[in-house]
Amino acid sequence: MTQRRKLIAGNWKMNGLAAQLEDVSAIDALARGRGDIDVVLFVPATLIAPAAARAKHAAIGAQDVHQAESGAFTGNLSAAMLVEAGAKGTIVGHSERRQYQQETSADVAAKAVRAHAHGLSVVLCVGETLDTREQGDDVAHAFVSDQLVASLPEGADAAWLTIAYEPVWAIGTGKVASPSQVEAMHAALRATLVKTLGDANGNAMRILYGGSVSGDNAAELLHTANVDGALVGGASLTAAKFGPIVEAA
Ligand code: PGA
Repeated sequence: MTQRRKLIAGNWKMNGLAAQLEDVSAIDALARGRGDIDVVLFVPATLIAPAAARAKHAAIGAQDVHQAESGAFTGNLSAAMLVEAGAKGTIVGHSERRQYQQETSADVAAKAVRAHAHGLSVVLCVGETLDTREQGDDVAHAFVSDQLVASLPEGADAAWLTIAYEPVWAIGTGKVASPSQVEAMHAALRATLVKTLGDANGNAMRILYGGSVSGDNAAELLHTANVDGALVGGASLTAAKFGPIVEAA
């Protein structure tokens, strides 16, 4: 069986001013003792440079990247800018961007290609809405598998690409998917990756779970088959809340 190194990622979303850099240092200290896993913090773009200056054991990443190399895209950030600021990776396709910025799966794939061209690692998010989940597990599995295939970038490789399954109905709601729902979805996504990318690459690619992960549920989720880590929103904002999740990995 393929050994996949666990990845615990924090997504600060639109939270964090300079005062929260203390939490970056505290989370970096948590990562110091955990050479057996990867820890990444996706901070707001304004904090990438100062956070990267503090983080020695955790990596700092961005929450989005534009697909173009540069140009007339007011308000957007290029992969080269993120790298220069100190980012080692980026999220693409988070459901909040798919929903509020109308990002399509084709956009998401293009963003991942651009990020990788600049040496950034990529966490690509997929997930179904409550409406889709309520149509049944099979419908949800098919929807998310199709979304994954449509979002996979050219040259997708486990060396730089990680998938995050985040049911939209579980994000920020306190409503976590059950271990059996997570196990079944991750098995479906694993099968999709193997079919699309081949045995070795498909089995080596990490699949994270995200959506209301906390210190209370992390251990059970992280010991579910095909769950190779977590993408954590609310509970990543302080070392006190993030610590137990890092411990559980
Ligand atoms: P949450 O967010 O942990 O606050 O539910 C997860 C995410 O959106 O990445």
